[in-house]
Amino acid sequence: MHAQWISEALASALDRHSKEGLSRQLMRLLRLWISSGRLPGNTMLPASRELAANLKLGRNTVLNAYEQLQAEGYLATQQGAGTYVTLLFQHKAGHEAPLRRQPLGLSRRGSELYQYCPMPQGLHGAFAPGVPEIRQFPHHCWQQLLARHQRQATPASLLYRDDGGLQPLREVLADYLQLSRSVRCSPQQILITQGAQQALELSARLLCDAGDIAWVEDPGYAGAKAALRGAGLTLIAAPVDSEGLNPALVTDARPPRLIYTTPSHQYPSGVVMTLARRLALLQHAEQAGAWIVEDDYDSEFRYDSQPQPALQGLARDERVIYAGTFSKVMYPGLRIGYLVVPDSLIDAFRAAQARLYREGQYPVQAALADFIAGGHFARHIRRMRELYRERQHLLRRALADTAAGQLTLSPGEAGMHLVATLPAHISETAISEAAAAQGVWLRPLGRHYLGAATQHGLVLGYAGVDQQAITHGSQVLASLLNGATP
Ligand SMILES: Cc1ncc(COP(=O)(O)O)c(C=O)c1O
Repeated sequence: MHAQWISEALASALDRHSKEGLSRQLMRLLRLWISSGRLPGNTMLPASRELAANLKLGRNTVLNAYEQLQAEGYLATQQGAGTYVTLLFQHKAGHEAPLRRQPLGLSRRGSELYQYCPMPQGLHGAFAPGVPEIRQFPHHCWQQLLARHQRQATPASLLYRDDGGLQPLREVLADYLQLSRSVRCSPQQILITQGAQQALELSARLLCDAGDIAWVEDPGYAGAKAALRGAGLTLIAAPVDSEGLNPALVTDARPPRLIYTTPSHQYPSGVVMTLARRLALLQHAEQAGAWIVEDDYDSEFRYDSQPQPALQGLARDERVIYAGTFSKVMYPGLRIGYLVVPDSLIDAFRAAQARLYREGQYPVQAALADFIAGGHFARHIRRMRELYRERQHLLRRALADTAAGQLTLSPGEAGMHLVATLPAHISETAISEAAAAQGVWLRPLGRHYLGAATQHGLVLGYAGVDQQAITHGSQVLASLLNGATP
């Protein structure tokens, strides 16, 4: 415990109007705090001169109290180190009424959230999915922009705000989304959020009521399921086939209020939703009276073709809410994402964001707007696209060399991960646990299913993994596969 906090606590506990002298009060308080365990054994007390100055007392008053407590055995001094709490009275700790630990449990919704959304594992290294290559991020340029905007921060940019994000960032983002993703939007329709996760959570809270039906892709993104569950929605599996989410395969007859989808690169299967399926999904949503939440999380990483335009731009009406993130193209710790919502809803979204989460980080948003406007963003995406393409090829080659015939890799020239289908006799969980013991993360595909898994495999992230780690991770995977007896 820092001596400064002890001074502060004593300063607020001393009663200068009391009949009890200040030295006596000091002794009583220290005795009480030591015997109750509030000041544990070996805690260094502030030097008497320092404490006297902080408490505006004579130094002798403090010295008297320290000496008395030393005589009683509560305190001791050590040459050159100062006065500290002895261990003598620690056994008295807990004399007060024992704390009633956790009188209440989690809510039903809380328990469900915890049960179905376990802590993510394997946050970086081979083959953690969804992690970009942050070592090659232009840190120097980014730091300069951040420093400039922090230095020039106006009082307004440091106060509470409720404008849905910095205007210059919303402007460059609107240009980017219209041009690169065919999203229909004006800067006014954009809400800057703390990552896609908050964007999804906010959409669920504002567009649905607890108990409403939400379709989620199966297999699908755990973060979205957590956001929808957290808002009290009932999740229904919407199976994904070779053309993307297939409304015809949903077995629950209740109409959905919200459909969550990743059409440009389905997570985690990697399927790109065909045009026919996009039109069918839009039509289905129209008939059901459902919102569609389109999560365009990694559309920047297409290696051999232009990405398909966003579903939002294809819709005849305004039922598609578009969500995106800078986590993959910048870095996840930035926590900046965005929503594009219909004009008629933007005020409600802004107000809810300001009430539920509060806005902030305006100097960072200003740096990001400059990073994009100055061309650094596009340059970084181009470099990463090239790098991730090479890494994907490397992973495919390494697995073809070491584990040929044992794994089937997902097709497609896009994204930051591949799905490797396993032979039926190999347990996803067993192989994942054995690899984790060797420092290699192989996420079981089964974790992405709401119901029974229809495919059996592993999700292998490669974007943030260098050549050496890809080779090593592939060898570990191959040796585990070869060691598993059919
Ligand atoms: C499908 C999908 N959406 C969104 C995200 C990013 O979310 P956030 O912006 O909250 O980091 C991820 C990250 O892994 C993802 O896989």
